[in-house]
Amino acid sequence: TSNRTTRKGRSEATWRNMQTSKTHSSESMSKDLSELMKEATKEVHEQAENTPFMMNFQKGQVSLHEFKLVAASLYFIYSALEEESERNKDNPVYAPVYFPAELHRKAALEQDLEYFYGRNWKEEIACPQATQKYVERLHYVGKNQPELLVAHAYTRYLGDLSGGQVLKKIAQKALQLPSTGEGLAFFTFDGVSNATKFKQLYRSRMNALEMDLATKKRVLEEAKKAFLLNIQVFEALQELVSKGQENGHPVQLKAELRTR
Ligand code: HEM
Repeated sequence: TSNRTTRKGRSEATWRNMQTSKTHSSESMSKDLSELMKEATKEVHEQAENTPFMMNFQKGQVSLHEFKLVAASLYFIYSALEEESERNKDNPVYAPVYFPAELHRKAALEQDLEYFYGRNWKEEIACPQATQKYVERLHYVGKNQPELLVAHAYTRYLGDLSGGQVLKKIAQKALQLPSTGEGLAFFTFDGVSNATKFKQLYRSRMNALEMDLATKKRVLEEAKKAFLLNIQVFEALQELVSKGQENGHPVQLKAELRTR
């Protein structure tokens, strides 16, 4: 708790008042933003983990076709997130959590997409509607409500540094990808040697953002929205794949390897 009292711009008296207010506002905003984010998104995180797409993925039931589709969607999502990140890199509402060298995924996804789709990957991929909706929200926030951009960065990057590392091993095994890491650049953070330590740094930067109570609440709402947008992307992908199966389209092409 020692970090709390020394926090910039907050007098001892203000801090005492905030502590007191805890008794009548159950989710007191006296907690650090990082803690509030984790609490606020606990339920939607469970929802995300329990989408059929993620459930199957965790069981190693993911085809190359599905993996290629999700990589393509992530490419559109990270292109938008990182464009808005760049736009706001000097904006004090975002600058403390701007970590391009450590976190940015667009270049990694470009590598993966070239590996999976070949040279003309850009012409081969499409942006589904649910993904487009997410992309539009990212641009809207980045341009009009940059103080909420941290919610989107948190949702994706801290997720990639957490569960993402488990998913990497699963994907490697299920898709029999080479141990050289080809096709898995997205999951590989060359600029982060210790994910746990980096997440701690990221949280401390989030907590250092100058933010009033009303904005904090809006950021928490935006984080939940970000999770829901991700869930919708997974649901749409799942639907696309199941539809293909119903129509008798071969979802698994010959080249696709599946180990069950
Ligand atoms: C954290 C697993 C999906 C976003 C975590 C953690 C695990 C995990 C083990 C670490 C918890 C901790 O350190 O206390 C999984 C699994 C998933 C999944 C198994 C799916 C199969 C997602 C998705 C998102 C997401 C789809 C968002 C798009 C996050 C975030 C955190 C996190 C933001 C950091 C929470 C924090 O420390 O504040 N996840 N996750 N996760 N996950 Fe996931």
